[in-house]
Amino acid sequence: ESTSSHTRFFRDSGGSYKVEDLGSSNGTYFNGVAIHEPRLLHNGDIIRLGSTEFIVEIPKEASATIVSGGFSTTHFKRSATDILGQMESGRIQNLSTLDTSSGSELKKVLEQKNRQFQALYEMSRLVQEYTDPEEMIAVALKKLLKMLGGDNAYLLMVKDDASLELRSSQTVSGKSASDFRISKTLTHHVIDEKCAVVAPDLLNDQRFNSSKSIIMSASRSILAVPMIFGNVAKGMVALSGEEVLDSSQQEDLEVLCICVSIIGPALRNLDLSKEIEETQREVLYTMGSIGETRSKETGNHVKRVAEYSKLLGLLSGLDEASAELLKQASPMHDIGKVGIPDRVLNKPGKLDAEEWAIMQTHARLGFDMLNHSTRPILKAAAIVAHEHHEKWNGKGYPRQLMGEDIHIYGRITAIADVFDALGSDRCYKKAWPLEKILELFKRESGEHFDPNLIHKYCPKMRNSFLFFSSFSLFF
Ligand code: C2E
Ligand code: SIN
Ligand code: SIN
Ligand code: SIN
Ligand code: FE
Ligand code: FE
Repeated sequence: ESTSSHTRFFRDSGGSYKVEDLGSSNGTYFNGVAIHEPRLLHNGDIIRLGSTEFIVEIPKEASATIVSGGFSTTHFKRSATDILGQMESGRIQNLSTLDTSSGSELKKVLEQKNRQFQALYEMSRLVQEYTDPEEMIAVALKKLLKMLGGDNAYLLMVKDDASLELRSSQTVSGKSASDFRISKTLTHHVIDEKCAVVAPDLLNDQRFNSSKSIIMSASRSILAVPMIFGNVAKGMVALSGEEVLDSSQQEDLEVLCICVSIIGPALRNLDLSKEIEETQREVLYTMGSIGETRSKETGNHVKRVAEYSKLLGLLSGLDEASAELLKQASPMHDIGKVGIPDRVLNKPGKLDAEEWAIMQTHARLGFDMLNHSTRPILKAAAIVAHEHHEKWNGKGYPRQLMGEDIHIYGRITAIADVFDALGSDRCYKKAWPLEKILELFKRESGEHFDPNLIHKYCPKMRNSFLFFSSFSLFF
């Protein structure tokens, strides 16, 4: 869900994507018509906000529904903690009771050991490789499908109100994601009793062979294990498939349990770091928008500047880490405006020479506020605050730096800031149409702006809107 003071894009309680105008002055247009009520969005709809057009792209996703019944305890189940406990004490298969004279049984045990070892190795490699929780889950689910078979893999999380939420679903390539019907009884076993369960052939099960849910989801069999944090099941990983699971269900269950015992804690750690990072980002946006709030600029200028800056950073060849640093720092570019008196900052008309001199001090003020920290983000923010009004031709402020003496972060933020400032209403001016904005960028290339950046950016400027909108990133 994204909001701005202008337009809201959201999902209603039924999960449909909608757009709503929030009483903006220049309106929200839905396929050319100004809207006054929320409208349902479909692929290909055109939304126009001011001078900016967006094409709607609805992501395809599977959903999970919990249905009553549909699972009996006659389906195979084992305590997940038992399985892991056995693993811990090295007895997942009791080798001492094994008849070692039977070569085929020994071979079977060793094969299963090998699968477990392989699964452990793959999962631990995977959790070291990924820093983004959603990516990690997606890859993990794909790997599980490969290892264990099945058509669909799902991760469901227990929400604060104890309901289950589908967090991720993956499908073997070539098939489309199917909706997931899962029985209450089954989730009870998995979540409340922390059991790993397998229902090998739901279609031939006397109790449910007429069950609509099974037919609809085209799933004949399901393999599900709890994701346990500490002592509490906080989620569930499930594989389902059209094919009847083969006879090695118990072995599959063990492998799945082991995998999930590695993915689970890794996922929790990634979720926690993401939470901290997002808090940090919010704090930076909030601080950065203090100047904005005072100057009554349209909301979320700083967020858009952040997005544009990162995009431009990547286009100009910054590595991902530097571009991300710039994204986090750029919202602070106008923090120095907190030091500008109201009569100047919010003056409805053109500034006189004295006011303009005061206004220009916001760059230096911002730098002074941020320059005490050795933290990379704040150091980058200090640079951005200081240099976002320098010009390529040396006629900017506050230091009249020229060309590449201006830090790349300053040169990039200058473009992002002006691009967004021109496209928005200000107390002293109306939003410009896109064509006029692009004209200014062409004209100012090599004067105000780094021509190398404009050269790369201008052709993509239009696309960047589509890019942002298609990822629902319009704030
Ligand atoms: P801002 O509103 O965030 O604008 C950022 C930059 O976008 C401006 O930096 C300027 O380069 C560009 N920009 C914004 N609106 C226009 C426009 O109508 N025409 C042109 N050619 N460029 C535009 P600049 O000029 O260094 O201004 C820095 C800040 O000073 C502005 O931030 C705004 O807060 C304030 N400011 C500038 N001019 C005026 C004004 O005439 N009246 C008032 N009240 N404030 C102004
Ligand atoms: C907004 O207020 O967020 C919309 C600004 C625009 O039309 O670009
Ligand atoms: C059920 O257990 O009722 C449905 C499971 C499935 O269809 O995958
Ligand atoms: C001013 O000189 O008052 C502001 C300059 C500008 O809007 O670019
Ligand atoms: Fe500024
Ligand atoms: Fe700004």
